[in-house]
Amino acid sequence: MRRAIYPGSFDPVTNGHLDIIERGCKLFDEIIIAILVNPEKQPFFSIEERRGMLEEVLKGIARGKCVVRVDHFQGLLVHYALAQKADAIVRGIRAISDYEYELQMALMNRRLEPSIETVFMMPAETYSYVSSRLVKEVFQLGGELAGLVPPLVESRMKEKVSGG
Ligand code: PNS
Repeated sequence: MRRAIYPGSFDPVTNGHLDIIERGCKLFDEIIIAILVNPEKQPFFSIEERRGMLEEVLKGIARGKCVVRVDHFQGLLVHYALAQKADAIVRGIRAISDYEYELQMALMNRRLEPSIETVFMMPAETYSYVSSRLVKEVFQLGGELAGLVPPLVESRMKEKVSGG
């Protein structure tokens, strides 16, 4: 039984995240998608909204026998991972530019907790430039989001700015 944590802000979940989860499902029996509660950041969506969207869009992915669930955490990721009895942390790497920061985090996490491995996974090339940050920027400037995020996420973003 192999359990992985897939941590992140998921503000909002993108098609790139879903692609990583599908790929992770080929390697792990269980993946816990762990949303970081970060009181220092002003998010677009609340934790509850992000969690709700993730749970909805996960219904549409290919996961085989893998159990996928959504949770949130505060504090050190490795403490959370230990409490969940996880074997690994999954992180997506899109480009070399991601690697430096991800390597630093992975090595720090390993120093803090040597029993937990970090596994880097590459999303499909189609998503190699997709990030939650750019998705929000494109949305706020009136650009098209089709193909970058699930349709549900795009409609929730529209509802949010229209006060719905
Ligand atoms: O989606 P993001 O914002 O790139 O995710 C970053 C995340 C949540 C993986 C990272 O900020 C994190 O693990 N935060 C928890 C605090 C922690 O453990 N810090 C030390 C790790 S080096």
